[in-house]
Amino acid sequence: MDALRRMEYRGYDSAGIALVSEDALVSAKKAGKLANLEAELEASPLPASHLGIGHTRWATHGAPTDTNAHPHLSASGRVALIHNGIIENFASLRAELETGGVRFRSETDSEVAAQLVGRAVDEGLSLADAMRAVAGRLEGTFTLVAIDVQTPDTLVAARRNSPLVVGVGVGEMFVASDVSAFIEHTRDAIEMGQDVIVEVAADRYRVTDFDGGEAHGKPYHVDWDLSAAEKGGYDWFMRKEIYEQPRAVAETLLGRFDADRRLTLDEIRISESELRTIDKIVIVACGTAFYAGLVAKYAIEHWTRVPCEVEIASEFRYRDPIITPHTLVVTISQSGETADTLMAVRHAREQGAKVIAICNTNGSTIPRESDAVLYTHAGPEIGVASTKGFLTQVAACYLLGLYLAQVRGTKYGDEIAAVMAELESMPAKIQQVLDRTDEVVALARELADRPSFLFLGRHVGYPIALEGALKLKEIAYLHAEGFPAGELKHGPIALVDEGIPVFVVVPPRGRDQLHDKVISNIQEVRARGAYTVVLVEEGDDEVAPYADVRIELPHASTLLQPLLAAVPLQIFACEVATVLGHDVDQPRNLAKSVTVE
Ligand code: F6R
Repeated sequence: MDALRRMEYRGYDSAGIALVSEDALVSAKKAGKLANLEAELEASPLPASHLGIGHTRWATHGAPTDTNAHPHLSASGRVALIHNGIIENFASLRAELETGGVRFRSETDSEVAAQLVGRAVDEGLSLADAMRAVAGRLEGTFTLVAIDVQTPDTLVAARRNSPLVVGVGVGEMFVASDVSAFIEHTRDAIEMGQDVIVEVAADRYRVTDFDGGEAHGKPYHVDWDLSAAEKGGYDWFMRKEIYEQPRAVAETLLGRFDADRRLTLDEIRISESELRTIDKIVIVACGTAFYAGLVAKYAIEHWTRVPCEVEIASEFRYRDPIITPHTLVVTISQSGETADTLMAVRHAREQGAKVIAICNTNGSTIPRESDAVLYTHAGPEIGVASTKGFLTQVAACYLLGLYLAQVRGTKYGDEIAAVMAELESMPAKIQQVLDRTDEVVALARELADRPSFLFLGRHVGYPIALEGALKLKEIAYLHAEGFPAGELKHGPIALVDEGIPVFVVVPPRGRDQLHDKVISNIQEVRARGAYTVVLVEEGDDEVAPYADVRIELPHASTLLQPLLAAVPLQIFACEVATVLGHDVDQPRNLAKSVTVE
């Protein structure tokens, strides 16, 4: 149950377990949060066992009910199976099984796998061979884990595209979607490749491919411990992760210089000569990671003068994008498991492009399938709404941009060093933002009953506006929209009426007219009755007459301001959601890593 609790962030609409006990499979399944299953097990405990499987679900096929919860049992009751992913050809397989007399208990695609594996072991195959045979028939994405009452010392897992890691303990072994499930017991993990079967007993494991040939996982040691996966006194993981941002960003930046103060991104295994031939950069990501990419575009183009496009991963491969061997594709993914992004990686590589993954999760699929990886080293992010993930993604993209500028000679060494010095000053400034959040918290309490919010920004402030709006949508369930401040007058300004809160990211005063233009945009909405909340550099008094509320940020240059401006918006959303009584870490309808397309 502890392991399931740590996995709950990946899906939380129902949960279940199955155990091998004596000569029988026993199981319990409950719709709703894990607490419901816990209550059920307290009321009617299952017998002791040393082999079991458990699952928390994010529904794709079939509503979140007790019967649709996993594990699913085979018709004879001999096999129990859990599944992550989507079985795309489930309808034809189900029809085949039903014609053969199998009566399905659930509406899920997953039960098809349980019934097929059950039928195969009933026909005499070992559980591993049954899983292999079934894996070969399934289309789509899956991690399957099954137990067979007749082999009570071994479980078998099969993996295609959905995550799976093995944890190696002393006299005990684990398999899970990610290491936080077993981090309490062991930090030694084995990364599983694609299309593998793993048989696991208490003291051994064996990896084979879908054809039965020997295969090998890649062992690694997890560099964080259980405390990183616990709330540490905070009410929400999200709040803890917001407050971890100074350290997380510092970790992203750590150790990136050699003795001559030249940037060295050791993990980038693409040669400098290849990076010099790049004529286009395409950043591909989803959600918050996509917004990190939008921020990065401004910096990367400015520093490298290479055109940089940013694309939503789920749209990427379906529009026949122009990708050549001279395109550098950069994917951004906190989890490293997002199916849309993974498919974009594969598509880009098929077109001959080099792919660099910016990722937070060691051992995950996207970095493994990419040509190179830049880890963000933010530590585990468990709150469903990404916070430290976002800031560290921006920081890592900036490192990459500066590195490309160094390799391609588009910036002098001292210019790069100056930006790096400023980047290295950001953790302390983020801390300053976190040290004065009283005003944002009070504002959240004041505005929590408003039905609608607008967020405006220009330049790098625009993706910050999008991110501020997304945070509020996903955890507070409030209508919120982000716009480029200059675009408002082309339509969306019609949304502005008396009292609507409009958050505006004001760029620092500087060399261009950006600052003054944003001030004009604030006046435009204020003139129409908006309640203006401005995020502004401290000491910038020009905006004062038009601001109902000022949230002050320490000084940063335009390109680096997003690392500060995002923070009050995260706190605002977290607080509004808390006031409204929502589960901040597990917002409705969402899951942390979206491993289905
Ligand atoms: C929003 C959020 C999502 C993720 C998106 C990509 O707070 O968390 O929008 O950013 O699902 O996830 P990763 O970065 O794991 O690929």
